[in-house]
Amino acid sequence: MYLTRLSLTNFRIFSRLDVELPRRVILLAGANAQGKTSVLEAVAYLANFSSFHAASERQLVNFNLPPEPIQVGRIVAEFVRENRKHTLEVRLILEYNGNQLNPRFRREVLLDGVKKRLGDLYGQFNAVTFLPQMARIMEGAPSDRRAYLDEILSQVEPGYSRHLNDYNKALTQRNALLKILGERGGDVRQLEPWDGMLAGHGANIMRARIHVLQELEALARPIHLKLTRDAEVLRLGYQPSFEPLPSPKGQLALPVQASHDRGGLSTDELESGLQRALHAAYREDISRGMTGLGPHRDEFRVFGNGVDLGDFGSRGQNRTALLSLKFAEVHWMRERTGEWPVLLLDEIMAELDPQRRADLLSVLGEVDQALLTATDQDMFTPRFLSEHEVWVVRDGRVGPLSSESH
Ligand SMILES: Nc1ncnc2c1ncn2[C@@H]1O[C@H](COP(=O)(O)OP(=O)(O)OP(=O)(O)O)[C@@H](O)[C@H]1O
Ligand SMILES: [Mg+2]
Repeated sequence: MYLTRLSLTNFRIFSRLDVELPRRVILLAGANAQGKTSVLEAVAYLANFSSFHAASERQLVNFNLPPEPIQVGRIVAEFVRENRKHTLEVRLILEYNGNQLNPRFRREVLLDGVKKRLGDLYGQFNAVTFLPQMARIMEGAPSDRRAYLDEILSQVEPGYSRHLNDYNKALTQRNALLKILGERGGDVRQLEPWDGMLAGHGANIMRARIHVLQELEALARPIHLKLTRDAEVLRLGYQPSFEPLPSPKGQLALPVQASHDRGGLSTDELESGLQRALHAAYREDISRGMTGLGPHRDEFRVFGNGVDLGDFGSRGQNRTALLSLKFAEVHWMRERTGEWPVLLLDEIMAELDPQRRADLLSVLGEVDQALLTATDQDMFTPRFLSEHEVWVVRDGRVGPLSSESH
């Protein structure tokens, strides 16, 4: 898939931007603070409906707008998927209602002119981002890795975002009830409906995570062997917060770190396993006032030749593993959706050695469209610059290099 047009209104630094995009690699070049990352952020928003770096989505609306009761930032994109043209429009709305300091934030998204709920919008437009902050996938907290899985699964797996949303709502309710039970006591059977909801949605979440990690591993392994010249075997280890596989006879529990094939577990088996585990942990959950197990506590680790890279990998080793994982993600999306995702690469080239840079450029050659940013064009070969579209971003304006020079 690829974008044919992008219009931004009052989005970040852009009061108004309207560009037609070719189906190819586009390099956005420009000095610092000109709006390069903001263009990628807008495009990524169409896939994830969240910003990859704003702490609050209010920050996406241009902050130089005159005071008005309502301010609207807008992303409108036309894109082609399965040879059909579609339009996605995102309205980021700030409503002040007399409160100049703390506006209410609201969002509307329209697909082909029709307002839709978020659950129906995921997967319409697919993008894979390569960002400096993606190092968190390797080196960050378990929540960073969960967020990574959730982001790619929401884009590809129908219903995933709804399960996640409903799971989180039920979790909040269950935790509130656990606190009450801990403070005032009461009938623990009140937990059962929430256990049922967590187990139902949680089983779907776990099943999707089990499968995506297996599929990503299968795709990443040969890529990683190539990038490391056969030196390192990459493995992705799912570590659910409870072991859903039945324990073998005579053994109380399997160590969670052990690698097992959980791919054969059905959603029903996961659901009953999670329900049992929640039930068995009542006392602990009540004393802590929160739910101690379930997909919200899942983790996965990346191993190189059996060594946990998040803990022990060198910087270069981790960077390469991450690149293998991201390349695998691109191919995984293509396999699952039948379309190449749009690639968004923010300042990635600068971090890579010449060999990795060449590897990355060859992936760019495969996809329909890629947008990459750089402050310095010198890191690209003259051949790359002549074969691809080079645009200049200056002061919130974007356009081809040629039109810039006259
Ligand atoms: N909500 C906003 N309203 C107006 N301007 C904003 C808003 N948010 C960010 N900016 C400004 O937009 C400018 C461009 O930011 P952006 O991160 O897109 O630049 P960049 O070209 O990627 O720069 P760099 O090369 O340093 O990464 C910044 O100077 C920033 O202050
Ligand atoms: Mg930037």
